[in-house]
Amino acid sequence: MRIPDIIIAVDGYSSTGKSSFAKIIANEFSFLYLDSGALYRGVTLFAIENGYIDADGSIDVPGLDKALGGLDLHFGEKGTYIGDRCIEREIRSLAVADKVSPIATVPQVREFVDKKLREFGKFKRVVMDGRDIGTTVFPDAELKIFMTADPMVRARRRAEEMHTKGEEADISEVLKNLQERDWIDSHRETSPLAKAEDAIVLDNSDMTMEDQMKWLRNIIAERFCCA
Ligand code: DC
Repeated sequence: MRIPDIIIAVDGYSSTGKSSFAKIIANEFSFLYLDSGALYRGVTLFAIENGYIDADGSIDVPGLDKALGGLDLHFGEKGTYIGDRCIEREIRSLAVADKVSPIATVPQVREFVDKKLREFGKFKRVVMDGRDIGTTVFPDAELKIFMTADPMVRARRRAEEMHTKGEEADISEVLKNLQERDWIDSHRETSPLAKAEDAIVLDNSDMTMEDQMKWLRNIIAERFCCA
C-alpha cells in the first residue's frame, strides 16, 4: 500500500505497545520511525549521571537547563546516543523509567526535545510515538492514533519485555511504575498526556499486532484512498 506524505502520531499510555506498532507501521509504509520517549529517557540518564536529579526525585532545574545547551543527544545506527556513546540499553532500565516522568515535566526539557522532533517532521513520511505528538509536537499530523490497554495487560507485556532483555521484573513493581508514570504524564502542566480531539482510539488489550495492522490499513484506505 502506497500512502501520501503524511505524519502519523502514535500517542498513549506507557507500555501499550506504541513503539512496536509504530515500528511496524514505519516498515510497512517505508516511513521513518522516531521514538520521542527515548529522548526523554536520554535526558533522564544524563540528569542522573550528572547529579541534576537526586534519589528522591528533586531536580536541579536551572543546572539541568544550562547543561542541556551542551548535551549532544541524538539518534544513530544502534538507537539513542549521547555523543558517540550508545545509551540504548541504559535508557530502558528501571532506574531511568523511575525518573523519566518527573524529568519530562520540566518545560525546558520538553522544549529541548520538541525542537529535535520537529526537525524530523519537516520531511513528512514519519511515524512518531510519544505522549503529546498529536497535541503539541505535530498538532497538524494527518493521522493521530491514541493507544490504550488494560493496566495489568500492559504490566505483563512490559515485564516480559524486560525478561527477554535479561532484566529482573517484579510484576507488581512494574504495574506500580506504570501507574505512577500515567498519573504524572497526564497531570503535568506542560503538554500533558491527552488524546487529541481528532485522534482515533485504539484499545489493544485483546488484539494481536496483525489485528492492529488490519485496523490501521482499513483506516488508511478510507482516509487516504490508496491502492
Ligand atoms: O514512551 P516511553 O515509555 O519511552 O516514554 C518515557 C517517558 O517519557 C514517559 O513516561 C513520559 C515521557 N514522554 C513524554 O512526556 N512525551 C513524549 N512525547 C514521550 C515520552
